[in-house]
Amino acid sequence: MHCLPVLVFICHLLYITQAQIDVPGVRLNRSSLLRTFTPGNCSDGTGKTSICSSCSSQSLCFGGNAIAEVACPGSNPYCNPGNVEARCSNLPAVGCGATGGAQVSSIVCPALGVLPDPANCKVYHVCRNLQQNSDVYQCPPGYHFNLTTKWCRSDQVDQCVRVTCGTTSGFVYYGNSRQYFALCVVANGVTTSYIMKCPDRATFSMTSNSCVYQCAGQGNFENSNDPTSFYQCYVVNGSYVVALQRCPANTTFKESLQYCS
Ligand SMILES: *[C@@H]1O[C@H](CO)[C@@H](O)[C@H](O)[C@H]1NC(C)=O
Ligand SMILES: *[C@@H]1O[C@H](CO)[C@@H](O)[C@H](O)[C@H]1NC(C)=O
Ligand SMILES: *[C@@H]1O[C@H](CO)[C@@H](O)[C@H](O)[C@H]1NC(C)=O
Ligand SMILES: *[C@@H]1O[C@H](CO)[C@@H](O)[C@H](O)[C@H]1NC(C)=O
Ligand SMILES: *[C@@H]1O[C@H](CO)[C@@H](O)[C@H](O)[C@H]1NC(C)=O
Repeated sequence: MHCLPVLVFICHLLYITQAQIDVPGVRLNRSSLLRTFTPGNCSDGTGKTSICSSCSSQSLCFGGNAIAEVACPGSNPYCNPGNVEARCSNLPAVGCGATGGAQVSSIVCPALGVLPDPANCKVYHVCRNLQQNSDVYQCPPGYHFNLTTKWCRSDQVDQCVRVTCGTTSGFVYYGNSRQYFALCVVANGVTTSYIMKCPDRATFSMTSNSCVYQCAGQGNFENSNDPTSFYQCYVVNGSYVVALQRCPANTTFKESLQYCS
């Protein structure tokens, strides 16, 4: 940032404010990710009267069986297990994320780059290899992931975005984005969402259930999601036609060369 002498003070104020608004997350290591939530067990022989059946609900135990599931109230949304009885609290239990009772775990990378977490806006994912587990980064307390900056932003500035699935399986957009979206799978009463991302220059179409790429000209262009394929743009009858092409085995697309090597 360049500051004229007169404006130095304001400029520095702005700079400091800016610096506090957006901060990077810290990478969670394997041991903190492995601490995943494990549901309690009414029949483990310890005579529990209630257990946590999920991060955000408890089950009452009777005669060693779980007889009724009760969701934790919004004021104390997290179930905390205990030696005898479980209780609802405003602190997430081990393995339960900081929001909505979601667990913190890595995702199987559907694309390269930074991806939001569909359920927990306090974490985000960095994907370095396709179809491998993401590195999970956690925002400091009071911060959430912002897709535009791809950093953590103060909760006082704007709000966190989470994927809201419907009652049936299908695709939903991630917040206002048309490039990031999620696949919601509803099966046996359990909803699982998978975050996905269209390549740069593409947006997700709810009509075709696919990413629609906008050609910037004729030629071959990189697929930012996957370097082993590329978009081929050509003109037919005055309009662009685009085809996603795969590189030969063990090669990646080099846009400067216009071919895979
Ligand atoms: C992993 O993270 C936990 C908690 O954040 C910390 O206590 C532990 O020392 C870390 N382990 C390694 C190997 O970095
Ligand atoms: C609960 O604990 C009992 C006794 O240890 C075990 O036999 C049973 O398989 C456990 N149930 C679950 C769902 O883990
Ligand atoms: C993320 O940051 C951008 C840039 O500052 C801002 O325009 C946008 O509103 C923020 N996103 C949300 C969901 O608040
Ligand atoms: C191009 O337009 C002509 C006339 O409208 C049509 O006959 C021809 O089939 C079109 N070609 C393609 C490849 O769509
Ligand atoms: C690609 O690389 C793999 C592993 O290095 C090798 O086994 C395979 O034969 C290669 N395929 C081609 C077509 O070169």
